[in-house]
Amino acid sequence: MKINTAEFIISNSDVKKCPKDNLPEYAFIGRSNVGKSSLINMLTNNKNLAKTSARPGKTQLINHFKINSNWYLVDLPGYGYAKVSKTTKEKFQKFITEYFEKREQLVCAFVLIDIRHEAQKIDLEFINYLGEAQVPFCIVFTKADKITEKKAEENIAAYREKLLTGDWEEMPKYFVTSSSKSVGREALLEYIGEINKEIFNRQGA
Ligand code: GTP
Ligand code: MG
Repeated sequence: MKINTAEFIISNSDVKKCPKDNLPEYAFIGRSNVGKSSLINMLTNNKNLAKTSARPGKTQLINHFKINSNWYLVDLPGYGYAKVSKTTKEKFQKFITEYFEKREQLVCAFVLIDIRHEAQKIDLEFINYLGEAQVPFCIVFTKADKITEKKAEENIAAYREKLLTGDWEEMPKYFVTSSSKSVGREALLEYIGEINKEIFNRQGA
């Protein structure tokens, strides 16, 4: 799929104020600094669309970017940054869980995982939370440029192992990406394009 236009529409912390034009949307979530905003910029070929920073905690709100005038990419704040947290639910900001539980336009969440690290408890908790909330999701491994392909394969295998020994029967669909090297761009856009096609066909029927 080609991206012809990408425009920022609105930022807010209230799901009720998100765009109401009922277009399919795809949200990016994951630990602070994992590369959510960078991935949106990489997909749209626009370095200045979503704000990025080397310091965690840059994105603080729900940000809607309209693509080709008929679907949205959604940049969300990261989790795992605030030091004080108790129950699983409290680890994820309330407006984020509200977004996932209430946003009917959400077609698929992309859970970003830094490919360099071992499975982190908070990511596994978030993946399990999405499973319980019945939110369709894929895993997106980020920063693949920082390790060798061999090491990346080993880390993905370890991730699969970890999920399968937990609550999951199979490895969720996943992508390997690097925003700085534009790795994984075609695969992600093709995946989104296929789902959009189905949705638009259904609506046209
Ligand atoms: P928050 O908004 O704070 O939750 O972070 P984020 O997940 O949006 O991360 P962001 O895109 O701001 O990137 C964080 C840092 O990682 C920045 O310094 C990026 O340049 C860097 N980064 C992101 N993706 C990649 C990548 O694929 N490769 C490399 N080498 N660096 C990356
Ligand atoms: Mg961000």
